[in-house]
Amino acid sequence: MIAYILYTALIGLAILPLLLYFRNPYILKDISYAITAIQIGMRVSKFKNHKPFYSILDCFLDKVAKQPHKKFLLFEESSFTYSQADKESNRVARALSLHANLKEGDTAAVFLGNEPLFVWIWLGLAKLGCTAALLNYNIRSKSLLHCFSCCEAKVLVAGADLRGAVEEVLPTLKQQGVRVFILNEDCDLEGVESLSDKIQQASDQPLSPHLRASINIKSPALYIYTSGTTGLPKAAVINHERLWMASFLQSVAGVRSDDIIYVYLPLYHSAAFLMGLCGAIDKGITVVLRRKFSASHFWNDCRKYNVTVIQYIGEIMRYLCNTPKRDNDKDHKVRLALGNGIRTDTWADFLQRFGDIHICECYGATEGNIGFVNYVGKIGAIGKEHFLHKMGCPYALIRYDTEKEEPVKNSKGFCIEVPRGETGLLVAKIGERTPFSGYAKNNLQTERKKLRDVFVKGDLYFNSGDLLKIDDEGFVFFQDRIGDTFRWKGENVATTEVADHLLMVDCVEEVNVYGVKVPGHEGRIGMAAMTLKENMDFDGKAAYQLVKRYLPSYARPRFIRIQDALAVTGTFKQMKVKLGEEGFNPAVIKDRLFYLEDHNGYVPMTQEIFNSIAEGRIRL
Ligand SMILES: *[C@@H]1O[C@H](CO)[C@@H](O)[C@H](O)[C@H]1NC(C)=O
Repeated sequence: MIAYILYTALIGLAILPLLLYFRNPYILKDISYAITAIQIGMRVSKFKNHKPFYSILDCFLDKVAKQPHKKFLLFEESSFTYSQADKESNRVARALSLHANLKEGDTAAVFLGNEPLFVWIWLGLAKLGCTAALLNYNIRSKSLLHCFSCCEAKVLVAGADLRGAVEEVLPTLKQQGVRVFILNEDCDLEGVESLSDKIQQASDQPLSPHLRASINIKSPALYIYTSGTTGLPKAAVINHERLWMASFLQSVAGVRSDDIIYVYLPLYHSAAFLMGLCGAIDKGITVVLRRKFSASHFWNDCRKYNVTVIQYIGEIMRYLCNTPKRDNDKDHKVRLALGNGIRTDTWADFLQRFGDIHICECYGATEGNIGFVNYVGKIGAIGKEHFLHKMGCPYALIRYDTEKEEPVKNSKGFCIEVPRGETGLLVAKIGERTPFSGYAKNNLQTERKKLRDVFVKGDLYFNSGDLLKIDDEGFVFFQDRIGDTFRWKGENVATTEVADHLLMVDCVEEVNVYGVKVPGHEGRIGMAAMTLKENMDFDGKAAYQLVKRYLPSYARPRFIRIQDALAVTGTFKQMKVKLGEEGFNPAVIKDRLFYLEDHNGYVPMTQEIFNSIAEGRIRL
């Protein structure tokens, strides 16, 4: 009898894992995710309580002490060890302290492309206890000035190739008493000082930690810009806590200390800077930096530098799949890709073509207090729910009216959580552990991202602006983005910023900018519906000159639709959803349409152009 009970118990024990497995085939990955999450939680609380506060710079300096001769940065034909990087940044810090008089608490704006100096300047600023504002090097004139002043930077450090853009705004910068430095040996421009010579002359001796003694976990580490709904970019405040959380993504994705990561996305975005560079410092690994993405050099670079981890945005994966097939497509050491926005079909293509690479798709906004990671590699999902995660940062998908552009309320005036499997707006509770730092000098925009009285009186949530869906297994799927921004080529475009510029064209009376989907592409491309002033015709030339001068290429409206009157909702909001759905097919739309041809300007839209785009013969 006893033997029988023991026997059944043993069988039971033996098949228990099997039962669990059938109930949840992801159990092992769920457990491993839970362990990593707990470890991260413990590290954060340790950093918080560490006196003085343990920053990413301290982490870097620890790595310098532990592995001084390990390669930190590879760029083109040069390479820098951890120790060399430390010394280079000491020089920068000393030059900036002496010549720009930067001190703890000051902000300096960095206006520079991807190159090692970008990293030395940031590390140098961190050594002085300063905050770095990472400017997008594509922006010009009014937007540039705005980015600059909203972080109250005292100093601008610009790359030599951006001299023209700096010259354009120099009078205003001077008025504001800003010190402007350019990364040249000398400079003949009045009011601009050279910096490269000063860096070379500076000593590479370490700087005293007393210079940054008052930095704590809530101090701003960086300003990273995101497109805003009112038009001009907003500076998201990245404090040290947020920086650490983003850096941990590499741990969640399973990056190891012997990995080599390829960073080619712009360092002024959080993907490359926080998840790529800062994550690499946390892991103490080697970073291969590239100035710009190149589809034809991508795999050769991976082979040349023995890259094992790549970052991506969806567009990049599609470009790579679109390159001509080669025999050596699978000949590389890349084992892990982490990023955001890969489409389901591209995902499958990519794996088949380039081999067994674990794709770790993640979701999160630069300024957001919530993120998801698809740690099991399920094709198409941007993340997977985990009960620990939900405990740590409560979130919900709420019902949303896309035409009225507001959450649907119940009879008591509260929001309604959607049932599983339905699309809803992601909102995440703002709390002690999940703070929302908002935007620098922009209380209005900060408040606009907050939702109050969501489920009970007095609660407070972060409005992600993204519509998501969560299935029965807890996989999270991206559906759409709402409101006044759309995403194209990995950049957020603010519809009102584009509209503000178009309104400067003489013939334009009113304008409504929105994004339209293009077959075979991620995101939405810009389109503008407009009405013209009385007795005026659309001046394609003037419009082209203007968008070319003031807007980065990803933000220029590809299509223009001329209307007699702009459609508005009952509350006089411009209709964007309907126009977006109508698209740009001249067979469907009876209004006059124009198309922005590369190097040529706006030309009348034809069925032939439409077909070429739909069939992928014209690349947008
Ligand atoms: C890449 O790895 C190979 C073999 O493991 C080695 O010979 C080569 O030096 C490495 N290349 C770089 C740039 O580290």
